[in-house]
Amino acid sequence: MLQKQLTTTKFVQEEKSILSLQHIVKTFDGKRSVLDNIQFSVQHGEFALIEGKSGSGKSTFLNIVGLLDTPTKGDYFLDGKRLNTKRIHSFSRIRSERIGFIFQSYQLIEKLSVKDNILLPYLYMKNNIDSTVLQKMDEMLCRFNLLDMKNKEVALLSGGEKQRVAIARAIIKKADIIIADEPTGNLDAENSKIIVEEFKVLKEQNKAVIVVTHNPYYFTCADRNYTLDKGRLC
Ligand SMILES: Nc1ncnc2c1ncn2[C@@H]1O[C@H](COP(=O)(O)OP(=O)(O)OP(=O)(O)O)[C@@H](O)[C@H]1O
Ligand SMILES: [Mg+2]
Repeated sequence: MLQKQLTTTKFVQEEKSILSLQHIVKTFDGKRSVLDNIQFSVQHGEFALIEGKSGSGKSTFLNIVGLLDTPTKGDYFLDGKRLNTKRIHSFSRIRSERIGFIFQSYQLIEKLSVKDNILLPYLYMKNNIDSTVLQKMDEMLCRFNLLDMKNKEVALLSGGEKQRVAIARAIIKKADIIIADEPTGNLDAENSKIIVEEFKVLKEQNKAVIVVTHNPYYFTCADRNYTLDKGRLC
């Protein structure tokens, strides 16, 4: 009876999860498992924070969560439906419309302007760049202290400025899953605070937010704290 109740409770939780990863294993060389039987789920409006030593597999994990890499084993559920992660090339629509990814290495196009980088996701979406989008971009650039740099080539920006452009690009679209890999690694205290406040708003907007960081500012808004160690998430 108790077992049945527990199974039912787990099922209800999985149903509510926007994302759920079950028994995820990742090995690059067929010998060492960088991720070893990971269980992870996140719900709408939930902020999950992940820590771990350098090389512990945080970026590997986020790449799998963000459908940029396939797990060696395990199941991936989105809105309660299992995705066949072997068909990762067919998920570009999900990635562009549902997921905002802030990369550790920014992944901006250096030759393009700040504005063109931020509007890049719209190239892959059905939505047009209308006046509402442009206004939203300007408001965001203003909050991020980047408005003066709107037409500047990204190659000419500092590391912290590039990082804020990468964040703006990830959150301007209406993605309901935000994944961030050390999003404030290159920011000073003032700009870190601005970004953490921005993440709090995303959570209030009912988005699922998954952040890898060591920055203590985030601890005040995290609903769940995980540590990745020896391939395990606990
Ligand atoms: N494409 C790859 N091919 C082979 N090994 C890889 C690959 N990507 C990551 N690894 C290895 O997997 C392990 C985890 O790497 P990962 O980048 O996920 O760590 P991390 O926790 O993000 O580290 P950091 O905090 O330094 O960013 C490392 O030992 C790394 O060398
Ligand atoms: Mg990393």
